[in-house]
Amino acid sequence: MEKNKIWQGNWTFIMAAAGSAVGLGNIWKFPYMTGTNGGGAFVLIYLLCILLIGLPVMMAETYIGRYGRKSPINSLNKITSDFSLNKIWVILGWLGAIAGIMILSYYSVFAGIAAAYIFNYIPATEIDPAQYSINYFSKFVSSPQKMILWHSLFIITTCVVVGKGVVEGIGKTISILMPTLFFLVIALCIYSSFSGDFSEAFNFLFNPDFSKINTSVVISAMGQAFFTLSIGMGAIMAYGAYMPKEQLIGKTVLIIVFLDTSVALLAGLTIFPIVFSNPELSVSSGPGLLFETLPVAFHSLPFGNIFASIFFILISIAAISSSVSLIEPFTAWIEEKGIFSRVQGVILLGGIAWLLGLGSVFSFNIWSAKTFFGFNFLSLMDFITNNLMLPMGGLTISIFVGWILNKEAVQKEMKIPKSLFKVFIFCLRVIAPLAISIIFLSYFFS
Ligand code: PFF
Repeated sequence: MEKNKIWQGNWTFIMAAAGSAVGLGNIWKFPYMTGTNGGGAFVLIYLLCILLIGLPVMMAETYIGRYGRKSPINSLNKITSDFSLNKIWVILGWLGAIAGIMILSYYSVFAGIAAAYIFNYIPATEIDPAQYSINYFSKFVSSPQKMILWHSLFIITTCVVVGKGVVEGIGKTISILMPTLFFLVIALCIYSSFSGDFSEAFNFLFNPDFSKINTSVVISAMGQAFFTLSIGMGAIMAYGAYMPKEQLIGKTVLIIVFLDTSVALLAGLTIFPIVFSNPELSVSSGPGLLFETLPVAFHSLPFGNIFASIFFILISIAAISSSVSLIEPFTAWIEEKGIFSRVQGVILLGGIAWLLGLGSVFSFNIWSAKTFFGFNFLSLMDFITNNLMLPMGGLTISIFVGWILNKEAVQKEMKIPKSLFKVFIFCLRVIAPLAISIIFLSYFFS
């Protein structure tokens, strides 16, 4: 790999990987999933999955990417050749590349709504802001035209950034925008904790009711842990390819996981105080939760409209910095293959994601009554990718790095102290595969 394709300094990799990890998954999905899955019990399992499965799998992915210094498919090709291993492991790269396009298709629909909300605010004279907000959201999603417009704009923006190349397009933008987002999330959380019902929100998030735990809650928490960290599909592997050689993988990944988890918890602590202090809003309202609650919070703030727009701009940016990593693994492979250029590749893949995304758009309106295997189109895509493909990818990566690769070689590259390395390998060998398999099996046989 050429020198200009290595990110300069340690901070760029952290920001890019955190940019991939921190996105709609934290600010939109985590709060609504917590709401629909019973609160604290879901959060507890989610945190356990992050620590025991997410952290080691992310380290393993980063290792493979940095070792191969290519797209995930070709990094796996290289590592299997160098260690004389069966090429079957390369399938992992393929599944990840496909999962990325599938996730992008519906990710873009919600990112489009967030972008549209930059221009939406509750009129100052409105006497029932919560009801206004709920009605606004349902009216917005009932219009396929509006949804398609914003979905298209988001896909196009993603393709433009990726088309420009990872170093120029992604590296630079993110190092400025991510710190701004962190700052605003903290500020909004402080505001919401003073103006809403903070203690009830805190209780809801951190006081688990164990009777709420069932296999569906556990599989959702695990899927969310994978989704939020962008692991199990090669996004982090693709970024690992640009990581400087001397950067310490363990320490770096720990920072990324910490940032990602903090943003999710802060988003929960921002949204739930508002929900609990407005009886019309409901914790279990599903994907619309963010869009129904935030405008209400901003409505009562001085200069609320301006802050609301800034906040939705930042959410859209967080979404872009994640969506680029969804399409990057496949694009990088196409570019390496040399049949198409990066730009042609990204147009092709963006087109496929756009088409597939129409199904998710229609789930809100003209297909709202249509079911596919008992799901609507959007939930089906969400289930297949988050609850099946990403954990499957994570399982395969754990087995590959934990059992198949040469431990000495991995430790030499990782430079983790021996005792911690043993914990890392134990998580990959035993905890992650066992936990993922048990969760899968219990879901399908229950
Ligand atoms: N981690 C992103 C989020 O939380 O919004 C979503 C995502 C990005 C998932 C990239 C998977 C991925 F490869």
